[in-house]
Amino acid sequence: MDERQIEAHGRRDRTDTLMLHADANILVTGATGLIGGEFVRRLIREHAGKVYCLVRPRAGADPGQRLAGRLGSDSGGDEPRAGGRPTALAGDVTAERLGLSDDDFGLVTESVDVVLHCASELSFIREESCRRTNIAGMRNLIDLVRRCRRSPRIVHVSTATVCGTAVNRDVLESDVARDVDAHHNEYTRSKLAAEQVLRASGLPALVIRPSIVLSAELPSADFARAILWFLPLLNAFDAVPVDPDARVDVVPVAFVVNAMLALMRAERLEHDCYHVSAGRSAAMRCGQVAAFLDRYYRRTSPLRLLPPAQWTAAKHRRYVDTPERRRIFGTLRHYLPFLNMNVTYDNSRLRTALNGALPPVRPVTDYLPGLLDLITPALQAAGTLPCRQAC
Ligand SMILES: NC(=O)c1ccc[n+]([C@@H]2O[C@H](COP(=O)([O-])OP(=O)(O)OC[C@H]3O[C@@H](n4cnc5c(N)ncnc54)[C@H](OP(=O)(O)O)[C@@H]3O)[C@@H](O)[C@H]2O)c1
Repeated sequence: MDERQIEAHGRRDRTDTLMLHADANILVTGATGLIGGEFVRRLIREHAGKVYCLVRPRAGADPGQRLAGRLGSDSGGDEPRAGGRPTALAGDVTAERLGLSDDDFGLVTESVDVVLHCASELSFIREESCRRTNIAGMRNLIDLVRRCRRSPRIVHVSTATVCGTAVNRDVLESDVARDVDAHHNEYTRSKLAAEQVLRASGLPALVIRPSIVLSAELPSADFARAILWFLPLLNAFDAVPVDPDARVDVVPVAFVVNAMLALMRAERLEHDCYHVSAGRSAAMRCGQVAAFLDRYYRRTSPLRLLPPAQWTAAKHRRYVDTPERRRIFGTLRHYLPFLNMNVTYDNSRLRTALNGALPPVRPVTDYLPGLLDLITPALQAAGTLPCRQAC
């Protein structure tokens, strides 16, 4: 079977039993990150099995310290879980055997029932790192899983943007951009390639494809900045080439973790791939976000959004007219295609799987002020918040 046939079959057969039973032992990659970290924090509160987290060593902080720092004080309180505290295992997905020591390799291959793979390069510009982390990393993960005694299921966190350069529609899980040129960047291309490597392996797997995930309610400026860094920069401009009617599909991280847990605990799943998204009805329009930013930053004149078709060379010269604006525009250009795609990600598979138990998606503007409050003061203090507001 080639990759297309595998995708067309949908491979239901391997996903129709409970994946995360109450005392399953789980290996989580990417647990220092946004989604993996929040997932492990939930496991601490409600899972009995062992939780192993693959964590990269960093200068000045060993994996245990890094994991403890990410999980914070919410480590189960006085009531230890049956499975004990999550255990950090030093490793790196780009290395063979994920870089595990012999002891840790033995631990994982003997005892793990589920692997949740959240580790990823998310940069839109580090192309080689995308390929190495996302594609070669998937191959290394598959090699490891093949050597595991308990034949663990792989739950792979991919991205809804594997639809590539799709525009103006409600994207289905089957809408993937197989043409290598039909991607805006190496990140989405490598995420699709990783899915294809996983499917071709024939291993039992569940692929989860979130839309844009925001760190709502988390007190971390780093996680807020990771996605929202470009919003304060819009203050440099009177106008930008963004379609005010374009929809953006954004979800808070708690919604993603809830959906992942529900899918992994479902008795039976009809599909092996699910969008975890706001969907058409709950997605915001860029114009609504711009109006919110006008109020939040108390702009003296509203930010004008011009559909890209109206952004002529003359308009570009008029609105991107200083060295500072040219520099900032250069950094924004990687994001603009995503804002203008005007796609939402159909979540009816997820709704059906959760049997009506999917909570409503919170409007972005409910939690955006809290996230901007985390990242704006540092820019103000450094004098790098572009000023179009009443300051
Ligand atoms: N955030 C979003 O909006 C979003 C949307 C759709 C899909 N996703 C997908 O969700 C998954 C998790 O994303 P996230 O937002 O949680 O990302 P994140 O916060 O950037 O976390 C990425 C994680 O991957 C780890 N990692 C990176 N390279 C690694 C390597 N070579 N070996 C081991 N670990 C490595 C990082 O470890 P360090 O701490 O050592 O760097 C970190 O724990 C990714 O697959 C991403 O594609 C995210």
